[in-house]
Amino acid sequence: MNIDIGIEANKRQEIAAGLSRVLADSYTLYLKTHNFHWNVTGPMFQTLHLMFETQYNELAVAVDLVAERIRALGVAAPGTYRQFLELSAIKEAAGVPKAEDMIRLLVEGHETAARTSREVFKVAEAASDQSTCDLLTQRLQVHEKTAWMLRSLLE
Ligand SMILES: [Fe+2]
Repeated sequence: MNIDIGIEANKRQEIAAGLSRVLADSYTLYLKTHNFHWNVTGPMFQTLHLMFETQYNELAVAVDLVAERIRALGVAAPGTYRQFLELSAIKEAAGVPKAEDMIRLLVEGHETAARTSREVFKVAEAASDQSTCDLLTQRLQVHEKTAWMLRSLLE
């Protein structure tokens, strides 16, 4: 069936392509955060182990919302590690970083995800896609707040 929600097909494609980058960033950050939850060591273990758990749980819910927004726009959502690796602006970490480096890497990850979301917001806004704008506004709030909380551990 034709999709007639008031956003032209080429605009829906463009927004979905942007959301696919948001999805890839979020999934990569999800995996990185879960990895660090498993492998963190040191005197901050308890704090970080629990904090990372809260964060990866939030990201696990978020990736579903982003992927389903892509579907609502009539486009297939990426869902393989290969696609995520190509689309994500967040790189995988090598080895097991020290606890402080894990925090730094996650701050960078959340800041990167915020920048991607902000870029895609402009595309959605120009197409009057309020639903995507709403979703991206919420993702921006989470990424900016989480980056602040992680950053505060290093001060
Ligand atoms: Fe666990």
